[in-house]
Amino acid sequence: MATIYYAASSLDGFIADPDNSLSWLLTRDVDASGPMGYDAFIASVGALAMGATTYQWLLDHDDGRWPYAMPCWVFTHRDLLGRDGDIRFTSADPAAVHAEMAEAADEQNIWLVGGGDLVGQFADAGCLDEVWVQYAPVTLGSGAPLLPRRIEFRLEELAKNGEFACARLAVVG
Ligand SMILES: NC(=O)c1ccc[n+]([C@@H]2O[C@H](COP(=O)([O-])OP(=O)(O)OC[C@H]3O[C@@H](n4cnc5c(N)ncnc54)[C@H](OP(=O)(O)O)[C@@H]3O)[C@@H](O)[C@H]2O)c1
Repeated sequence: MATIYYAASSLDGFIADPDNSLSWLLTRDVDASGPMGYDAFIASVGALAMGATTYQWLLDHDDGRWPYAMPCWVFTHRDLLGRDGDIRFTSADPAAVHAEMAEAADEQNIWLVGGGDLVGQFADAGCLDEVWVQYAPVTLGSGAPLLPRRIEFRLEELAKNGEFACARLAVVG
């Protein structure tokens, strides 16, 4: 079991543009069943966590169906609208939530969906093993940061998938 931040990024390290738009990302060519693709990754996941902005983005953009079958912890200080799925709102300590997630995941991987600072909080607590980044061939100039921390990584794997340069990195130490 590993705790993995799997996300797509612009070349200059943003996962959303300043308007929280992913239009720069979602129009691009990618093979979900290809190298480091989404299909195999999501099949390995037993629990996930995301921040309130990411959750709100899903509410605003999907077709009304919650996309995940596995339990999802949503970090927020607000009373957000729930959805028809196993969604657990929390503002608890990320290390404590990680322990709950590990139990629920039952040896499968934990997916930290984002955003970057929430993933940084898990990293601060020693609860981040790997980062998988799909770099899109675009710069955005500003937006939501990929991972606003200083962390050392070891490059484990590289792949080209459609328009994306994909990297798998392990946290060192
Ligand atoms: N490109 C990709 O692959 C990818 C992946 C994921 C997300 N995204 C996008 O990137 C953007 C990320 O937005 P973001 O940077 O604002 O990050 P976010 O993590 O989605 O949301 C941040 C919010 O989460 C809540 N939060 C964070 N840590 C918390 C804690 N310890 N306890 C309680 N609540 C906590 C706070 O909300 P409160 O206001 O409730 O306090 C905070 O304002 C979104 O637009 C999303 O759609 C892109």
